[in-house]
Amino acid sequence: MRVRKAIIPAAGLGTRMLPATKVVPKEMLPVATKPLIQYVVEEALDAGIEHILIITAREKSSIQDHFDRDANMENFLKKVGKADIAKMMSDYLPETGAITYLRQDERLGLGHAIWCARHWAGNEPFVILSPDELLMGEQNCTRMLMDSYEETGGLAIAMQDLPREDVVRYGVIAGTEITLKSGQKVIRADQMVEKPTVEEAPSNHCIIGRYVLDPGIFVHLNKKLAGAGGEIQLTDAISAQLATRDIYGVLYDGERFDCGKRIGWLEANIAAALRSEDLKQDMRNIIKKYANNS
Ligand code: UTP
Repeated sequence: MRVRKAIIPAAGLGTRMLPATKVVPKEMLPVATKPLIQYVVEEALDAGIEHILIITAREKSSIQDHFDRDANMENFLKKVGKADIAKMMSDYLPETGAITYLRQDERLGLGHAIWCARHWAGNEPFVILSPDELLMGEQNCTRMLMDSYEETGGLAIAMQDLPREDVVRYGVIAGTEITLKSGQKVIRADQMVEKPTVEEAPSNHCIIGRYVLDPGIFVHLNKKLAGAGGEIQLTDAISAQLATRDIYGVLYDGERFDCGKRIGWLEANIAAALRSEDLKQDMRNIIKKYANNS
């Protein structure tokens, strides 16, 4: 079955980024020239996704405003001779109706945020994209997962091989390597653990915030299923499907930035500026200046 839908969970409190996230949602923090959430919306649309559901919460309406047309602003920009900026302001907007918003009324974790989408998802598979995981590799990670799902019919989860000491902050997958018809190597999962200790971790394949799942997940995303940290964990609900469903880990080796923590967000800004034709020379000079002074 073709994957047409994507869910972007954006209702979290972002406590690790306080006080920056006291008033501005974490997903609206800019990286170089645009907010984090715009990167994942673009990743989804570039992969061929047709309909996006953004899970929001109270005090996060700026996310909706960002993807709404501001005709007054566009007209003003044209009037003052900034037609190029006016065009850019409408160019990034997805077509009308492509994004739906739904509020998570209790912050019970990522698993609960996804559970809120059960009626919207209907009978179709869907991608999940975590907006604080910014992926800048050449390949579109969401597209890679969709290809795996469409070829195998098994759930697909993006992963990266990280240093052993980092596994404690991630969900971890272990299993057998197989090669798909497309030539893509994937891991057929036989174990998944959320935030294991270094000793317990069955591998260093860490889950990185992109998934293709299907409505089977909602059976396991029961409110009572609280896991690590008292939150409803998505990884626990996925691993509960291991007995009945093929699940594949798809290795993404492009650059990734964890923008849910300060240093990851700062690094993403530098990396994004160095990729921008407009900004890269100035950014190089700035880096040299500070490197020489430190
Ligand atoms: P995080 O695990 O980073 O949690 O969420 P958080 O609340 O955003 O941030 P910290 O840990 O307090 O700093 C990963 C993704 O899941 C969403 C977040 O918005 C983020 O995009 N999320 C998390 C929800 O939508 N609802 C939740 O209850 C929790």
